[in-house]
Amino acid sequence: MSTLLDVRDLTVRFALPRKGFFGPRPYLEAVRQVSFSLEKGRALGIVGESGSGKTTTAMAAIRLTEAASGQVLFEGQDLLSLGDEEMRAQRRDVQLIFQDPYSSLNPRARVADIVREPMDLMGLGTMEERNARVRELFQLVGLRPDQLNLFPHQFSGGQRQRISIARALTTNPKLLVCDEPVSALDVAIQAQILNLLAKLKTELGLSYLFISHDLGVVRHVCDDVAVMYLGKIVEQGSRAALFDAPQHPYTQALLAAAPSLARRKSKGYVRPLKISGDPPSPINPPRGCAFADRCPKAQDICRQTQPMLEETGGTRVACHFPGPAA
Ligand SMILES: Nc1ncnc2c1ncn2[C@@H]1O[C@H](COP(=O)(O)OP(=O)(O)O)[C@@H](O)[C@H]1O
Ligand SMILES: [Mg+2]
Repeated sequence: MSTLLDVRDLTVRFALPRKGFFGPRPYLEAVRQVSFSLEKGRALGIVGESGSGKTTTAMAAIRLTEAASGQVLFEGQDLLSLGDEEMRAQRRDVQLIFQDPYSSLNPRARVADIVREPMDLMGLGTMEERNARVRELFQLVGLRPDQLNLFPHQFSGGQRQRISIARALTTNPKLLVCDEPVSALDVAIQAQILNLLAKLKTELGLSYLFISHDLGVVRHVCDDVAVMYLGKIVEQGSRAALFDAPQHPYTQALLAAAPSLARRKSKGYVRPLKISGDPPSPINPPRGCAFADRCPKAQDICRQTQPMLEETGGTRVACHFPGPAA
C-alpha cells in the first residue's frame, strides 16, 4: 500500500471578535493536533457530532482553510508549504462533494455545462474531448445521455448528487473529499449513492476522505475510520476493529445510537437518543479529556491529563481507561 495523504499534527484556530477593546483576542480551536493517513485506493471516514471539527479538518487538509500548524503530505509533498502557483497545479488531484446538491449546482446552467466546467476552468483537452468526457461520466454515474441538456431542478436529490459526483470526476482526481454527501437525501436514496461511490472507488482506484456524522453511513463505504470529538481524534482504526471492538467510551456510545442502514429503512424505526449532555466549548478546551464530563468511566486523571492516541486492542485510542464496552 502506498500513502496518498499523510496529515500530521494539524491544528486550526479561528480568531473570534474581541469581547472588549482591550484584552486578548479569543480563539476557537476547531482542530487540535489531528494526525491520520489515507492509503491509495482506500476510504477514510471521519465521524463525530456536529461541531466536532470534521469539515474544518478536511478543508485544512486540502488547504481551503488555513491551518495554524501541522503538515499535510500529499504523495509526500507538504501542501502547507506550497506556493499559490504550485498549489493550483495540485488542485486537479483533489475534488470535493458537498452535502447539498441543491445549492452547489448553478440553477441556470444546463447540467452538461456544469459537469464540464472544471475542465473548462483548467483548460483540459479540446471542447470535443471535454464533451465526450462529460457523456462518459454521465453514464458512469448512472445518468442518461438524453438528460445532458436539462437543468438541475429537473432532477431528484439523488440524481443531483450524481451530477456533483460526475463534475468532481472530470479532472481525474486522486482524492475525493466527500463532506456529508448523503445527509440531505432520503434513506432509500442514500444507499444508492453510497453504492455508486463504492463502485467508483474500485473502478477508478479513487481514495476518499469521507465525512459523516452518521456511523451507519461510514460503515457502508469506509475502510478506515477516525472518530472526532471536540477537534481531536479520540479513536481510529480499520472498519472491522472500530465497529466490532471499539475501545473508547465515546465511540461505544456513538455506535449504540447508530443502527445499520438496513434497520433504519425498516418501517416503524425510531432513532434512539444520543448520549446526554453537550461537548465542552472549543473556545477554552478542557485541559484533560474533552469527553470526561459525559463519560461513565471518568476518573480524576481524565479531567487533568490529556490522553494520547495509543495502540490498544486493535484500534488507536485516546483514553486513560480504554476497553470493551460494559
Ligand atoms: N469560519 C469559522 N469561524 C469560527 N468558527 C468556526 C468556523 N468554521 C467552523 N467553526 C467552528 O469550528 C468548530 C468545528 O466546526 P466544523 O469543522 O464545521 O465541525 P463539523 O464539520 O464536525 O460539524 C465548531 O465549533 C464551529 O462552530
Ligand atoms: Mg461539517
